[in-house]
Amino acid sequence: MSGLLEEDLEHLVTMAAFAPSVHNTQPWHFRPAPGGLRLERDRSRQLTVIDPMGRELLLSCGAALHHLEVAARGVGIDSRVTINPVGNTVATVRLSRGRPATDAELAHALAILHRHTYRGRFDDERIPAAALDAIAGAATHEHGLVRIVSDEELVEVEVLVSRAERTLVSAPGYQEELARWVWHGAPDENRGDGIPAAAVDHGPDRAESLEGRQFDGAADPRPEEPPDPEHPTVLLLSSPSDTPFDWIQAGRALSALLLLATELGVVAQPIGQVLDLPASRRELALALGTVGSPQMLLRLGRGQAAPQTPRRAVADVLAR
Ligand SMILES: Cc1cc2nc3c(=O)[nH]c(=O)nc-3n(C[C@H](O)[C@H](O)[C@H](O)COP(=O)(O)O)c2cc1C
Repeated sequence: MSGLLEEDLEHLVTMAAFAPSVHNTQPWHFRPAPGGLRLERDRSRQLTVIDPMGRELLLSCGAALHHLEVAARGVGIDSRVTINPVGNTVATVRLSRGRPATDAELAHALAILHRHTYRGRFDDERIPAAALDAIAGAATHEHGLVRIVSDEELVEVEVLVSRAERTLVSAPGYQEELARWVWHGAPDENRGDGIPAAAVDHGPDRAESLEGRQFDGAADPRPEEPPDPEHPTVLLLSSPSDTPFDWIQAGRALSALLLLATELGVVAQPIGQVLDLPASRRELALALGTVGSPQMLLRLGRGQAAPQTPRRAVADVLAR
C-alpha cells in the first residue's frame, strides 16, 4: 500500500469524481493498487452513438486523473502518474506523503469544488490577455496544443458546429442516447449521474456565437428582438496525435485549463458536437490549419453561477 489511510483514498477519489465527463457519465472506476491507485475505464458507461471509439470516455478519465493529482497536492500528497491504456486500465498513480501543500496548491485544489460547466449567457467583458495566456499555459504544460479562434475564423467554425448538430440530431440513436442521460425528475430522484434538465437550459434571448448542444430537443425559438451580442473567447484544445494515450493526456490538459480558469473567475462551455463526428473533427482541423488532432472546443468568458450536476457515491467509484 501507499502508506495512506483509507480516508485519504476516499478523499482523493471523491475529488477526482468532480471532474467533467461527457454527459456526466463518470465512466471511471478507482482500485487500490500497489503504492497507490489504479484508474480504470467503465465501458458500460460509454456513449456508443456519439463515442464509439471511446475517445470522449478517455478524455473524461484523463480529467478525473488530473483532478486526483491536484487534489492530492492540496493535502500534501505527491502523485506519480503512469498512463497505460491497456484493457480497462487507464493509468496507475503512485501516491506518497510529501511536503505540506502551499496556499496556492490548496486554492488550486479547492477550484475543483467550484468548477461547473457553464451554458448560460456570457458577459460582454473579454478575458484579459494575461488570464487567457495563463489558462492556455496550464493546458500546454500538460502537453495540450491550444489554438484561440479569431473572430474572423469564427464564422466557419460556427457553420461546422451547426452542421454537426443537424447531422447528430438525425443520426440513429442520438436522441435516445441523450434522453438516457438528461433527466427531468425532482432533485430528490437524483440518480448520481447524468445531467439535470435545468443544467442544460441555455436560457432565453441568446445570440450564441457557437450553437451549444441541444440536450433537450429542439433549439430555443429565436428571440424577436436581436439580443445583445456575446463575446466569449473560443479555444480549441488539440493533441499531438490521436491515440488513446493522447485522449487521456488531452483530458489532463482540459482539467488543468478548466481548474485554472475557475480560479481566475472564467467559466467554460464545451462545444462537443463538432468533435463527436470524425468528419467534422477533420474539417475543423483543416479550417483552422491546426497542428495535431482536435480534442475539445470551448467557449470561455465571464458568466454567472453555473448549476451543479450530481456525482455517484464514492463507494460506487472506489473498489475496496
Ligand atoms: C469529453 C467531454 C465532452 C463534453 N461535451 C459537451 C458538450 O458537447 N456540450 C456541453 O454543454 N457540455 C459538454 N461537456 C460537459 C459535460 O456535460 C459536463 O462535464 C457534465 O455534465 C458534468 O457537469 P459539470 O462539468 O458541471 O461538473 C463535455 C465534457 C467532456 C469531458
